[in-house]
Amino acid sequence: MDLISSCDGEKIIVVGAGATTIVDTLLENDYQVTVMDISSEALRILSKRHGTNMEYIHGDLTSELELGEYNIWHDRAVLHFLLHESEMKSYVANMESCIVSGGYAVIETFSTDGAQECCGLNLHTYDEEMLVELLGSNWTLVESIRHTHVNPFGGDRPYISTIFKRK
Ligand SMILES: C[S@@+](CC[C@H](N)C(=O)[O-])C[C@H]1O[C@@H](n2cnc3c(N)ncnc32)[C@H](O)[C@@H]1O
Repeated sequence: MDLISSCDGEKIIVVGAGATTIVDTLLENDYQVTVMDISSEALRILSKRHGTNMEYIHGDLTSELELGEYNIWHDRAVLHFLLHESEMKSYVANMESCIVSGGYAVIETFSTDGAQECCGLNLHTYDEEMLVELLGSNWTLVESIRHTHVNPFGGDRPYISTIFKRK
């Protein structure tokens, strides 16, 4: 929330939302929230919790999507599941299609010094330079924080959390 609240604007899309509780806090703080996920089960859980207080998009970030327009893109723990260059490029294209100039992307992934696997799936982990290279010249890195998330099963998960601004 500290990262998100340091960005201007209240229209936010939370991608790969899962059943995240960050949307509860966003709604309490008067953000206009859209959640998207490839999992209809995740969206069902969120919609049971929040009904018509948010918008819901079912989609795959690795394909071309019509997402609308937002000030802020928030991703925790989706990008690192995309292993192929074409998938990563689609992710960035989707992000650029819905974040207007002056908008923000808050991207949080497992860092290169952390786990290379999660839930039995291989990961593509990141450091600052790798994220800067992936996003390309349309984005400026504003902030980057390293921290360790302790997952619900007690495992340490070193993360990199970043804010990028769209030029
Ligand atoms: C590790 S969970 C993170 C959930 C939430 N962001 C959080 O931090 O608790 C990853 C989520 O990304 C979704 N996901 C995975 N691949 C995706 C894709 N290609 N497009 C959209 N969502 C995807 C999964 O369904 C899952 O809900």
